[in-house]
Amino acid sequence: MLSLRLLTKYGIHANLDKKKVRALSSFQSARKGGKMNTIDLIKSRTSYRGTYLSTKVPREHLKLIMEAGLAAPSGCNKQTTRLIAVDDEDTLAKLHEVIASPLGETAPAMICVLAKKIIAYRDRCYYIQDYAAAIENMLLAIIDLGYQSCWVEGHITDTDQICRKMADILEVPNDCELVCFLPVGIAEKECQKAVKLPFEERAWFNKFGGR
Ligand SMILES: Cc1cc2nc3c(=O)[nH]c(=O)nc-3n(C[C@H](O)[C@H](O)[C@H](O)COP(=O)(O)O)c2cc1C
Repeated sequence: MLSLRLLTKYGIHANLDKKKVRALSSFQSARKGGKMNTIDLIKSRTSYRGTYLSTKVPREHLKLIMEAGLAAPSGCNKQTTRLIAVDDEDTLAKLHEVIASPLGETAPAMICVLAKKIIAYRDRCYYIQDYAAAIENMLLAIIDLGYQSCWVEGHITDTDQICRKMADILEVPNDCELVCFLPVGIAEKECQKAVKLPFEERAWFNKFGGR
């Protein structure tokens, strides 16, 4: 389990005290038969921080997930995002040694997201938006294929710069920055859906606050 400090840091504490919403993961609903439509799939996505089954993720699936990521829009189509899928046990072990967190530790694969700071125009560089779009596409593809994941960026880009140690292990060149990793695997436990603010507090029609 993650420590309370980490849970609080990443805004997950709401889950601990508020009513526990035990949502079946898409994997579990997929197991019961029937694929979700796109809107339901998007709404069902949630960060999974539990343990994973040891079942391997086939390369075809890792490729499909990465293709979904690379299909994302990018500023001026500069395609600044690069991806490395890791499914080699020794490499995973080395990465988790530096990650030093139970987060995704049991997942049989992970996708590391790299950003290349290519200028879009003038001094504008959209690499953050580009990789964020790629990550969301991948998270949705991961769920669609019956796996679970979590966007892990805060933990590895904090002051201790775990991301740099991970980049060294993966022989990432200097012009790319490792910014995030996504564990990929079949969830062993049920997902707990994060509590979101009501629609009316965050989205409106025609003007700020408009109904
Ligand atoms: C930029 C960014 C960084 C994140 N970093 C972490 C992280 O380091 N560790 C973690 O457990 N979750 C991380 N998350 C996941 C968020 O905590 C999660 O998306 C949020 O609590 C909402 O929950 P949901 O994904 O289930 O909707 C990150 C998400 C984003 C967008």
